[in-house]
Amino acid sequence: MSPTGVGLGLRSAFVDELLEREARGEIPAIRWLECHPENYMRRGGRWPRNLERCRERWPFATHGLAMSLGGVDPLDRQYLATLRTFLRDLEVPWHSDHLCFAVAHGAASHDLLPMPWNEDTARHFADRVREARELISVPLAVENISYYVKPAGSTLDDGSFAAAVVRESGCDLMLDVNNVYVNAQNHGDDPRAILAAMPLDRVVQIHVAGHFLEGEEEPGFVIDTHAEPVCDGVYDLLAWTLERTGRVPILLERDDDFPPFDELYAEVERLDRLWRAAPERGIRAMSAMSAMRAAAR
Ligand SMILES: [Fe+2]
Repeated sequence: MSPTGVGLGLRSAFVDELLEREARGEIPAIRWLECHPENYMRRGGRWPRNLERCRERWPFATHGLAMSLGGVDPLDRQYLATLRTFLRDLEVPWHSDHLCFAVAHGAASHDLLPMPWNEDTARHFADRVREARELISVPLAVENISYYVKPAGSTLDDGSFAAAVVRESGCDLMLDVNNVYVNAQNHGDDPRAILAAMPLDRVVQIHVAGHFLEGEEEPGFVIDTHAEPVCDGVYDLLAWTLERTGRVPILLERDDDFPPFDELYAEVERLDRLWRAAPERGIRAMSAMSAMRAAAR
């Protein structure tokens, strides 16, 4: 079964409570889960056991951190072979990773780092996206990242860059609305203009998360922590996006400072209301229909 509606990023901090509440029928708005394969691959004990317990109850999508699609080191074929087996066993409909580099000269940065956004780097990404997709044997979606310094040599904004990679590679987009918000705040851009330039007809999944805002009265720097509740500005951007994409699966990412589960679930319910208010079919379906009509002509 494919993810639909609102999902939650699976974290070991709340997996027991998640399963207990699901067994009591208390959390119907959580309709799917996302996991980071790197947390489970080649691990024994409670990790695969918890994953199996969750898999019996929810469909999954996967979200990786280690492909380094923008890097210049060769893709790690051993990692991708292990990932391919993991994705096959979990029966995911797609896998996502980031528009970034994370490895240089064999050393992992453990961070998602930006490259200059331009047509040349978009082609470089696209070549590696095609290669990685071939190696993992499932559809691959790329995610727009948050970043704090714009590398020299950038000629494209976040949206146009994502559009170029998607166009050149034929991959899908995993649209992180919070990352658009964070970058727009930090770099002085209009978030809706960035979103409008994204290939919204290729969005297969949306991420939302919370961030840390330095200085409440006079907003300063925004840090993409995933450790706070989702802010109203991100909900507004999400609603704007969903009006165009239609009911794309939404995933709530929470990675630190976990609140009581009721608070997390209240966020899922708010997202679920937005998802239900969105048009059933968005521009992805419409562009697929017009492509079919064009082919039939
Ligand atoms: Fe994300």
